[in-house]
Amino acid sequence: MADKARVAVLISGRGSNMAALIYAARATDCPYEIVLVSGDKPNAPGLMLAEAEGVAVVRLPSPTKDSKGCFFNDLNGVLRKASAEFVILAGFMRILPDAFVAGWAGQMINIHPSLLPKYRGLGTHQAALDAGDAVAGCTVHLVTAELDGGPILGQCEVAVLPDDTVDRLAERVRIAEHQLLPRVLAEYIR
Ligand code: GAR
Repeated sequence: MADKARVAVLISGRGSNMAALIYAARATDCPYEIVLVSGDKPNAPGLMLAEAEGVAVVRLPSPTKDSKGCFFNDLNGVLRKASAEFVILAGFMRILPDAFVAGWAGQMINIHPSLLPKYRGLGTHQAALDAGDAVAGCTVHLVTAELDGGPILGQCEVAVLPDDTVDRLAERVRIAEHQLLPRVLAEYIR
């Protein structure tokens, strides 16, 4: 397929959603290719995985309180240099500066482990268990200045089991994320 969309992925840790995107992109009819993986943790395990899979990786030093502005300028430069058309936040655990978000309006997508608008921010699985929810899940949405508040592109529900713990529920939600994110990205690009 000619002219695949150029997608960059930002991660902070394990990178299992990034891996799901890399493997989905191997299908000949996938409308995107993963051209870059970067993030805010130079030792993130996901970066090693991306390298092993032959994807370009750029390691930036972790931002400190004082270097946050510089970090996002540098990151933006890295994304532009790679000619990225879409940026996926796949477990990228940073609050983004408004100017950075504005520069990627309509082209930056986040995956979040809850059925938004329920449970923005952290601690989503504990919140779902505490509330006695029968259903949890995950959401893929466009990134706007409002934390976890941008337009929703897709969601996947996951049943909560009577004996669920945070870890067990998180594991099943992650399986759902790996299905949802590559599919919703393909639909959005098409
Ligand atoms: C995923 O569950 C993702 O939804 C979550 O981080 C995890 C990353 O896992 N993101 C957020 O909580 C963002 N607010 P992964 O590194 O294995 O893809």
